[in-house]
Amino acid sequence: MTTTRPAIVASGLRKRYGDKLALDGLDLEVAEGSVLGLLGPNGAGKTTAVSILTTLLRPDGGRAEVAGFDVATQAAQVRTRIGLTGQTDAIDEILTGRQNLVMFGRLHHLSPRAARKRADELLEQFGLTEAADRQAKGYSGGMKRRLDLAVSFVTAPKVLFLDEPTTGQDPRNRMEVWSVVRTLVAGGTTVLLTTHYLDEADQLADRISVVDRGRVIADGTPNELKSRLGASQVDLVLRDERQLDEATEIVARVSGATPDVDRERRRVSAPVHDRVASLTDVLAGLQAAAVAVEDVALRQPTLDDVFMQLTGTRAESDDPAADTTEVAA
Ligand SMILES: Nc1ncnc2c1ncn2[C@@H]1O[C@H](COP(=O)(O)OP(=O)(O)OP(=O)(O)O)[C@@H](O)[C@H]1O
Ligand SMILES: [Mg+2]
Repeated sequence: MTTTRPAIVASGLRKRYGDKLALDGLDLEVAEGSVLGLLGPNGAGKTTAVSILTTLLRPDGGRAEVAGFDVATQAAQVRTRIGLTGQTDAIDEILTGRQNLVMFGRLHHLSPRAARKRADELLEQFGLTEAADRQAKGYSGGMKRRLDLAVSFVTAPKVLFLDEPTTGQDPRNRMEVWSVVRTLVAGGTTVLLTTHYLDEADQLADRISVVDRGRVIADGTPNELKSRLGASQVDLVLRDERQLDEATEIVARVSGATPDVDRERRRVSAPVHDRVASLTDVLAGLQAAAVAVEDVALRQPTLDDVFMQLTGTRAESDDPAADTTEVAA
Protein backbone atom coordinates (compact mmCIF):
# COMPACT_ATOMS: atom_id res chain seq x y z
CA MET A 1 0.00 0.00 0.00
CA THR A 2 1.30 3.40 -0.88
CA THR A 3 0.26 6.44 1.09
CA THR A 4 -0.22 8.63 -1.96
CA ARG A 5 -3.04 6.56 -3.39
CA PRO A 6 -6.37 8.36 -2.97
CA ALA A 7 -8.85 6.65 -0.65
CA ILE A 8 -11.71 7.28 -3.07
CA VAL A 9 -11.53 7.75 -6.83
CA ALA A 10 -14.51 7.89 -9.13
CA SER A 11 -14.33 8.63 -12.79
CA GLY A 12 -17.16 9.19 -15.20
CA LEU A 13 -19.82 7.53 -13.03
CA ARG A 14 -23.15 7.25 -14.78
CA LYS A 15 -26.44 5.98 -13.44
CA ARG A 16 -29.89 6.11 -14.95
CA TYR A 17 -33.24 5.29 -13.29
CA GLY A 18 -35.67 4.83 -16.14
CA ASP A 19 -35.50 8.05 -18.10
CA LYS A 20 -34.02 9.96 -15.15
CA LEU A 21 -30.26 10.49 -15.40
CA ALA A 22 -29.11 10.49 -11.76
CA LEU A 23 -25.35 10.55 -12.43
CA ASP A 24 -23.98 12.08 -15.59
CA GLY A 25 -20.22 11.51 -15.55
CA LEU A 26 -19.38 12.16 -11.91
CA ASP A 27 -15.68 12.49 -11.04
CA LEU A 28 -14.31 12.53 -7.50
CA GLU A 29 -10.99 12.11 -5.76
CA VAL A 30 -10.48 12.02 -2.02
CA ALA A 31 -7.00 11.90 -0.48
CA GLU A 32 -6.43 9.43 2.32
CA GLY A 33 -7.20 10.89 5.76
CA SER A 34 -9.09 13.85 4.34
CA VAL A 35 -12.73 14.92 4.26
CA LEU A 36 -14.62 15.58 1.04
CA GLY A 37 -17.91 17.45 1.27
CA LEU A 38 -20.34 16.56 -1.51
CA LEU A 39 -22.58 19.60 -1.60
CA GLY A 40 -25.74 19.70 -3.67
CA PRO A 41 -29.50 20.26 -3.69
CA ASN A 42 -32.18 17.56 -3.50
CA GLY A 43 -31.95 15.19 -6.43
CA ALA A 44 -28.38 16.19 -7.40
CA GLY A 45 -27.21 12.57 -7.23
CA LYS A 46 -25.38 12.55 -3.90
CA THR A 47 -27.03 9.44 -2.45
CA THR A 48 -26.72 7.63 -5.77
CA ALA A 49 -22.97 8.33 -5.76
CA VAL A 50 -22.65 7.14 -2.15
CA SER A 51 -24.62 3.97 -2.95
CA ILE A 52 -22.29 3.15 -5.81
CA LEU A 53 -19.16 3.86 -3.77
CA THR A 54 -20.44 1.65 -0.95
CA THR A 55 -21.23 -1.19 -3.41
CA LEU A 56 -24.99 -1.05 -2.81
CA LEU A 57 -25.67 -0.04 -6.41
CA ARG A 58 -23.97 -0.78 -9.71
CA PRO A 59 -23.11 2.10 -12.01
CA ASP A 60 -24.19 1.98 -15.66
CA GLY A 61 -20.87 3.46 -16.66
CA GLY A 62 -17.57 4.73 -15.28
CA ARG A 63 -15.56 3.19 -12.48
CA ALA A 64 -14.64 3.75 -8.87
CA GLU A 65 -12.12 2.56 -6.30
CA VAL A 66 -12.46 2.76 -2.54
CA ALA A 67 -9.51 1.98 -0.24
CA GLY A 68 -7.67 0.71 -3.30
CA PHE A 69 -10.34 -1.78 -4.42
CA ASP A 70 -12.70 -1.64 -7.37
CA VAL A 71 -16.30 -1.22 -6.19
CA ALA A 72 -17.66 -3.39 -8.98
CA THR A 73 -15.19 -6.28 -9.07
CA GLN A 74 -13.86 -6.25 -5.49
CA ALA A 75 -17.01 -5.36 -3.57
CA ALA A 76 -16.26 -7.69 -0.66
CA GLN A 77 -12.86 -6.09 -0.02
CA VAL A 78 -14.43 -2.65 -0.19
CA ARG A 79 -17.18 -3.57 2.27
CA THR A 80 -14.85 -4.65 5.05
CA ARG A 81 -13.07 -1.30 4.92
CA ILE A 82 -15.96 1.13 4.92
CA GLY A 83 -18.66 2.47 7.18
CA LEU A 84 -21.90 4.00 5.99
CA THR A 85 -24.54 6.11 7.63
CA GLY A 86 -27.37 6.56 5.23
CA GLN A 87 -30.62 8.38 5.18
CA THR A 88 -32.22 5.13 6.32
CA ASP A 89 -31.70 3.86 9.82
CA ALA A 90 -29.57 0.81 10.59
CA ILE A 91 -30.72 0.55 14.18
CA ASP A 92 -32.90 -2.12 15.79
CA GLU A 93 -35.78 -0.26 17.42
CA ILE A 94 -36.68 -3.07 19.82
CA LEU A 95 -33.29 -2.73 21.51
CA THR A 96 -32.16 0.14 23.71
CA GLY A 97 -29.62 2.62 22.43
CA ARG A 98 -26.92 0.99 24.52
CA GLN A 99 -27.83 -2.52 23.34
CA ASN A 100 -27.66 -1.40 19.72
CA LEU A 101 -24.17 -0.05 20.18
CA VAL A 102 -22.89 -3.02 22.19
CA MET A 103 -24.36 -5.47 19.67
CA PHE A 104 -22.72 -3.65 16.81
CA GLY A 105 -19.38 -3.63 18.62
CA ARG A 106 -19.68 -7.40 19.27
CA LEU A 107 -20.51 -8.00 15.59
CA HIS A 108 -17.29 -6.20 14.82
CA HIS A 109 -15.30 -8.46 17.12
CA LEU A 110 -14.87 -6.17 20.10
CA SER A 111 -14.71 -7.99 23.44
CA PRO A 112 -17.83 -7.57 25.65
CA ARG A 113 -15.91 -5.17 27.85
CA ALA A 114 -14.51 -3.12 24.96
CA ALA A 115 -17.95 -3.01 23.30
CA ARG A 116 -19.56 -1.69 26.50
CA LYS A 117 -16.82 0.90 26.94
CA ARG A 118 -17.15 2.09 23.35
CA ALA A 119 -20.95 2.25 23.74
CA ASP A 120 -20.61 4.45 26.84
CA GLU A 121 -18.24 6.83 25.05
CA LEU A 122 -20.52 7.16 22.05
CA LEU A 123 -23.69 7.58 24.13
CA GLU A 124 -21.93 10.43 25.91
CA GLN A 125 -20.58 12.02 22.71
CA PHE A 126 -23.94 11.91 20.98
CA GLY A 127 -25.94 13.17 23.94
CA LEU A 128 -27.79 9.88 24.44
CA THR A 129 -26.62 8.92 27.92
CA GLU A 130 -29.95 9.67 29.57
CA ALA A 131 -31.90 7.73 26.94
CA ALA A 132 -29.34 4.89 26.80
CA ASP A 133 -31.51 2.26 28.46
CA ARG A 134 -34.77 3.06 26.71
CA GLN A 135 -35.97 1.22 23.60
CA ALA A 136 -34.92 3.06 20.46
CA LYS A 137 -38.47 2.99 19.12
CA GLY A 138 -39.39 5.64 21.70
CA TYR A 139 -36.61 7.98 20.54
CA SER A 140 -37.36 11.21 18.69
CA GLY A 141 -36.34 11.44 15.03
CA GLY A 142 -33.23 13.41 15.97
CA MET A 143 -32.23 10.87 18.64
CA LYS A 144 -32.65 7.94 16.23
CA ARG A 145 -30.51 9.75 13.73
CA ARG A 146 -27.78 10.28 16.34
CA LEU A 147 -27.92 6.65 17.38
CA ASP A 148 -27.66 5.64 13.73
CA LEU A 149 -24.58 7.83 13.40
CA ALA A 150 -23.10 6.51 16.65
CA VAL A 151 -23.43 2.95 15.29
CA SER A 152 -21.28 3.85 12.29
CA PHE A 153 -18.63 5.22 14.65
CA VAL A 154 -18.33 2.07 16.80
CA THR A 155 -15.29 0.90 14.92
CA ALA A 156 -13.11 3.31 12.98
CA PRO A 157 -13.44 2.27 9.33
CA LYS A 158 -10.77 3.23 6.78
CA VAL A 159 -13.34 5.14 4.76
CA LEU A 160 -16.57 6.48 6.21
CA PHE A 161 -19.54 7.65 4.15
CA LEU A 162 -21.97 9.98 5.88
CA ASP A 163 -25.09 10.80 3.89
CA GLU A 164 -26.48 14.05 5.32
CA PRO A 165 -25.22 13.37 8.84
CA THR A 166 -26.84 16.39 10.47
CA THR A 167 -30.08 16.88 8.58
CA GLY A 168 -32.84 17.48 11.12
CA GLN A 169 -30.43 18.02 14.01
CA ASP A 170 -30.44 21.09 16.21
CA PRO A 171 -27.31 23.29 16.25
CA ARG A 172 -25.86 21.73 19.38
CA ASN A 173 -26.18 18.21 18.00
CA ARG A 174 -24.74 19.26 14.66
CA MET A 175 -21.64 20.48 16.46
CA GLU A 176 -21.38 17.20 18.39
CA VAL A 177 -21.51 15.26 15.15
CA TRP A 178 -18.85 17.53 13.65
CA SER A 179 -16.62 16.98 16.65
CA VAL A 180 -16.91 13.17 16.40
CA VAL A 181 -16.13 13.32 12.69
CA ARG A 182 -13.02 15.39 13.41
CA THR A 183 -11.87 12.88 16.02
CA LEU A 184 -12.18 10.03 13.53
CA VAL A 185 -10.35 11.96 10.84
CA ALA A 186 -7.55 12.75 13.28
CA GLY A 187 -7.25 8.98 13.71
CA GLY A 188 -6.71 8.54 9.96
CA THR A 189 -10.21 7.80 8.65
CA THR A 190 -11.14 9.23 5.25
CA VAL A 191 -14.64 10.75 5.15
CA LEU A 192 -17.01 11.52 2.34
CA LEU A 193 -20.03 13.41 3.56
CA THR A 194 -23.00 14.71 1.65
CA THR A 195 -24.74 17.83 2.80
CA HIS A 196 -27.15 20.60 1.82
CA TYR A 197 -25.39 22.95 4.18
CA LEU A 198 -22.58 25.13 2.95
CA ASP A 199 -21.52 25.90 6.51
CA GLU A 200 -21.22 22.20 7.32
CA ALA A 201 -18.99 21.57 4.32
CA ASP A 202 -17.01 24.65 5.31
CA GLN A 203 -16.58 23.39 8.89
CA LEU A 204 -15.59 19.83 8.12
CA ALA A 205 -14.32 19.40 4.61
CA ASP A 206 -10.78 19.77 3.31
CA ARG A 207 -12.27 19.93 -0.16
CA ILE A 208 -15.78 20.48 -1.47
CA SER A 209 -17.29 19.16 -4.69
CA VAL A 210 -20.49 20.93 -5.68
CA VAL A 211 -22.84 18.52 -7.44
CA ASP A 212 -25.70 19.46 -9.72
CA ARG A 213 -27.70 17.16 -11.99
CA GLY A 214 -25.34 14.25 -11.56
CA ARG A 215 -22.04 15.99 -12.15
CA VAL A 216 -19.48 18.08 -10.31
CA ILE A 217 -19.91 21.73 -11.31
CA ALA A 218 -17.22 23.18 -9.03
CA ASP A 219 -14.63 21.95 -6.59
CA GLY A 220 -11.88 23.24 -4.40
CA THR A 221 -11.03 23.96 -0.79
CA PRO A 222 -13.70 25.81 1.19
CA ASN A 223 -11.55 28.95 1.00
CA GLU A 224 -11.10 28.67 -2.75
CA LEU A 225 -14.83 28.31 -3.24
CA LYS A 226 -15.61 31.15 -0.88
CA SER A 227 -13.18 33.48 -2.56
CA ARG A 228 -14.83 32.62 -5.85
CA LEU A 229 -18.29 33.07 -4.46
CA GLY A 230 -17.86 35.81 -1.87
CA ALA A 231 -17.57 35.14 1.83
CA SER A 232 -20.78 36.92 2.75
CA GLN A 233 -24.03 37.89 1.17
CA VAL A 234 -25.63 41.35 1.25
CA ASP A 235 -29.42 41.32 1.27
CA LEU A 236 -31.49 44.45 0.67
CA VAL A 237 -35.23 44.85 0.79
CA LEU A 238 -36.51 48.04 -0.83
CA ARG A 239 -39.54 50.03 0.11
CA ASP A 240 -40.55 50.67 -3.48
CA GLU A 241 -40.37 48.11 -6.27
CA ARG A 242 -39.81 50.85 -8.86
CA GLN A 243 -36.34 51.47 -7.43
CA LEU A 244 -35.20 47.86 -7.86
CA ASP A 245 -33.23 48.43 -11.04
CA GLU A 246 -31.39 51.35 -9.58
CA ALA A 247 -30.55 49.40 -6.43
CA THR A 248 -29.44 46.39 -8.47
CA GLU A 249 -27.02 48.56 -10.40
CA ILE A 250 -25.50 49.95 -7.20
CA VAL A 251 -25.14 46.49 -5.63
CA ALA A 252 -23.60 45.16 -8.86
CA ARG A 253 -21.08 47.99 -8.92
CA VAL A 254 -19.97 47.48 -5.31
CA SER A 255 -19.96 43.66 -5.29
CA GLY A 256 -18.62 43.12 -8.80
CA ALA A 257 -21.15 40.26 -9.09
CA THR A 258 -24.49 39.85 -10.80
CA PRO A 259 -27.06 40.36 -8.04
CA ASP A 260 -29.93 37.98 -7.51
CA VAL A 261 -33.19 39.94 -7.75
CA ASP A 262 -36.50 38.82 -6.29
CA ARG A 263 -39.06 41.32 -7.61
CA GLU A 264 -41.96 40.00 -5.62
CA ARG A 265 -40.14 40.45 -2.32
CA ARG A 266 -38.40 43.64 -3.54
CA ARG A 267 -35.13 41.92 -2.59
CA VAL A 268 -31.64 42.30 -4.08
CA SER A 269 -28.73 40.16 -2.91
CA ALA A 270 -25.16 39.62 -3.96
CA PRO A 271 -21.96 38.05 -2.62
CA VAL A 272 -19.30 40.36 -1.19
CA HIS A 273 -15.74 39.81 -0.04
CA ASP A 274 -15.08 42.58 2.45
CA ARG A 275 -18.18 42.56 4.58
CA VAL A 276 -18.41 45.91 6.31
CA ALA A 277 -16.70 47.99 3.63
CA SER A 278 -19.04 46.62 0.96
CA LEU A 279 -22.11 47.16 3.08
CA THR A 280 -21.04 50.73 3.79
CA ASP A 281 -20.47 51.39 0.08
CA VAL A 282 -23.84 49.92 -0.86
CA LEU A 283 -25.67 52.01 1.71
CA ALA A 284 -23.80 55.17 0.70
CA GLY A 285 -24.67 54.51 -2.96
CA LEU A 286 -28.33 53.96 -2.14
CA GLN A 287 -28.50 57.08 -0.05
CA ALA A 288 -26.89 59.19 -2.76
CA ALA A 289 -29.45 57.84 -5.24
CA ALA A 290 -32.31 58.38 -2.76
CA VAL A 291 -33.32 54.70 -2.85
CA ALA A 292 -35.45 53.88 0.21
CA VAL A 293 -34.39 50.71 2.01
CA GLU A 294 -36.71 48.77 4.24
CA ASP A 295 -34.26 46.18 5.49
CA VAL A 296 -30.60 45.33 5.06
CA ALA A 297 -28.54 42.36 6.22
CA LEU A 298 -25.15 40.73 5.91
CA ARG A 299 -25.39 36.96 6.14
CA GLN A 300 -23.57 33.72 5.41
CA PRO A 301 -24.13 32.47 1.85
CA THR A 302 -26.53 29.53 1.49
CA LEU A 303 -26.50 26.66 -0.95
CA ASP A 304 -28.97 28.66 -3.05
CA ASP A 305 -26.51 31.55 -3.29
CA VAL A 306 -23.74 29.17 -4.34
CA PHE A 307 -25.91 27.80 -7.13
CA MET A 308 -26.98 31.24 -8.18
CA GLN A 309 -23.34 32.23 -8.59
CA LEU A 310 -22.20 29.00 -10.23
CA THR A 311 -25.09 28.40 -12.58
CA GLY A 312 -26.99 31.69 -12.77
CA THR A 313 -30.12 29.81 -11.74
CA ARG A 314 -31.71 28.66 -8.54
CA ALA A 315 -30.84 25.14 -7.43
CA GLU A 316 -33.07 22.75 -9.32
CA SER A 317 -34.80 20.25 -7.15
CA ASP A 318 -37.19 17.39 -7.62
CA ASP A 319 -38.55 17.88 -4.14
CA PRO A 320 -41.03 20.76 -3.94
CA ALA A 321 -40.53 21.01 -0.18
CA ALA A 322 -36.85 21.76 -0.78
CA ASP A 323 -37.62 25.27 -1.95
CA THR A 324 -38.67 26.24 1.53
CA THR A 325 -35.84 24.44 3.33
CA GLU A 326 -33.99 26.84 5.59
CA VAL A 327 -30.26 26.53 5.26
CA ALA A 328 -28.54 27.12 8.56
CA ALA A 329 -26.35 30.21 8.51
N1 LIG B 1 -34.64 4.25 -6.92
C1 LIG B 1 -34.85 5.30 -7.72
N2 LIG B 1 -35.74 5.21 -8.74
C2 LIG B 1 -35.95 6.24 -9.57
N3 LIG B 1 -35.32 7.44 -9.49
C3 LIG B 1 -34.44 7.60 -8.51
C4 LIG B 1 -34.16 6.54 -7.57
N4 LIG B 1 -33.23 7.00 -6.69
C5 LIG B 1 -32.95 8.27 -7.07
N5 LIG B 1 -33.66 8.63 -8.16
C6 LIG B 1 -33.58 9.93 -8.87
O1 LIG B 1 -32.22 10.16 -9.19
C7 LIG B 1 -31.86 11.52 -8.93
C8 LIG B 1 -30.74 11.59 -7.93
O2 LIG B 1 -31.22 11.13 -6.68
P1 LIG B 1 -30.33 11.08 -5.36
O3 LIG B 1 -31.14 10.43 -4.31
O4 LIG B 1 -29.01 10.49 -5.68
O5 LIG B 1 -30.14 12.63 -5.04
P2 LIG B 1 -29.56 13.32 -3.72
O6 LIG B 1 -28.56 14.33 -4.18
O7 LIG B 1 -29.12 12.32 -2.74
O8 LIG B 1 -30.85 14.11 -3.18
P3 LIG B 1 -31.25 14.45 -1.64
O9 LIG B 1 -30.47 15.67 -1.30
O10 LIG B 1 -32.72 14.73 -1.76
O11 LIG B 1 -30.96 13.28 -0.78
C9 LIG B 1 -33.13 12.20 -8.47
O12 LIG B 1 -33.73 12.82 -9.58
C10 LIG B 1 -33.98 11.08 -7.96
O13 LIG B 1 -35.37 11.39 -8.12
MG1 LIG C 1 -29.68 11.92 -0.81
